[in-house]
Amino acid sequence: MGVFVIDGGIPLKGSVRISGAKNAILPSLAACLLTEGKNVLKDVPDLEDVHTMCDLLTSLGADIDFRPQEKEITIDTTNITVHTATYDLVNTMRASFLVMGPLLARKGMAKVSLPGGCAIGSRPVDLHLKGFSSLGATINTGHGYVEAKVKDKLSGARIYLDFPSVGATENILMAAVLAKGQTTIENAATEPEIIDLATMLVSMGANVSGAGTDTIRVIGTDKLYPVEHSIIPDRIEAGTYMIAAAMTGGDVFLENVMPDHLKPVTAKLREAGVEISEELTSIHIRNSRHLKAVDIKTHPHPGFPTDMQAQMTSFLCHAEGTSMIVETIFENRFMHVSELKRMGARIKIDGRTAIIEGGVPFMGAQVRATDLRAGAALILAGLCAKDRTEISDIYHIDRGYEKMEEKLRALGARIKRT
Ligand code: EPZ
Repeated sequence: MGVFVIDGGIPLKGSVRISGAKNAILPSLAACLLTEGKNVLKDVPDLEDVHTMCDLLTSLGADIDFRPQEKEITIDTTNITVHTATYDLVNTMRASFLVMGPLLARKGMAKVSLPGGCAIGSRPVDLHLKGFSSLGATINTGHGYVEAKVKDKLSGARIYLDFPSVGATENILMAAVLAKGQTTIENAATEPEIIDLATMLVSMGANVSGAGTDTIRVIGTDKLYPVEHSIIPDRIEAGTYMIAAAMTGGDVFLENVMPDHLKPVTAKLREAGVEISEELTSIHIRNSRHLKAVDIKTHPHPGFPTDMQAQMTSFLCHAEGTSMIVETIFENRFMHVSELKRMGARIKIDGRTAIIEGGVPFMGAQVRATDLRAGAALILAGLCAKDRTEISDIYHIDRGYEKMEEKLRALGARIKRT
């Protein structure tokens, strides 16, 4: 297992290019199952999760050519002969469950291992399954698998999501585009990644409107065609580097970003005293001194993203004053707190609320990444600590951050992977 060794205390300076979004490339890869032929995806990040999704699609019969140097993937989905996503692949990555909607739409059946829970919560898929049965599928669960079947074709329906689930919105959308008739998804997730998926589906020939709002309308079509699609930049990676620049008192340009996608993060960092200027596709974080505490409550988009909560916890340990973070999305997304406390953080947890006493300098320590964003939070703390931090189990970080130590070294950080 790899370890990151960080000797912190260096203000980051220079520019960093943000990669394509993990949470956009994964549904886009699944969407390729809806077509027969060669799709080309561009600006693809070289992440563990992308390799896992490619392995899954290959196991279903797709022919994949992933060229990380060119940030491109060609996927030929002409011969999708298998409709089962096995336990080992789904267990590695929950997002594998996103193949269920496209497989059901294309093959009339799909058998996918029920994703287990993960570090941050139980993460059920009941809303996905409720959507599929509304579209006419018969759902059977047993022996750890979910099987969905439809005799002929799915039929459009009006679906109301009890919670604006990102995955459920994506899975149901991908099933609905080949259904007979109209589907309406109400209380849909509005994240930028939903818009990116809808853009790709429309370029395949689908009839989708309202993506990005809480009501998405689909009129089913008979056939969809392979496309070329460029992945949007990763707003969570961008937010993580923004906080790294602010916490180390650095001066950093982020290239290949869409500032609009970062509004809630930018607003909160500005409120805390970070100087941020935005251009069309770049963001500049200047020297930030006297950062002050702000309160955070995570919400579905356009609220403050839960995927930035752990990173923000590190930031608030560093800023002056007492702050409060409420995590409303996942029931157990404070795994980073006990590790941060090993580095001197003063944080009290009460249910889904964390009270942070800021202005306490981080001390280097040996810590462990418990999940992807918790790992990122520990890196941020290590970059601030004046001495050495060693972070183990960094495979979590490699799932969602492309070449993170290289990008940080290019900004002057003293970090190495052992
Ligand atoms: C996506 O996960 C992201 N992953 C997550 O990013 C992100 O944290 C999450 O959306 C919320 O923004 C990908 O896009 C691959 P949800 P997803 O369905 O789709 C409950 C990261 O760090 N729920 O919106 O699984 C669920 O338990 C990852 O990059 C149900 O109750 O998230 C959770 O409390 C972590 N029933 C809430 O909704 C369901 O059927 C949000 O889940 C589905 C979800």
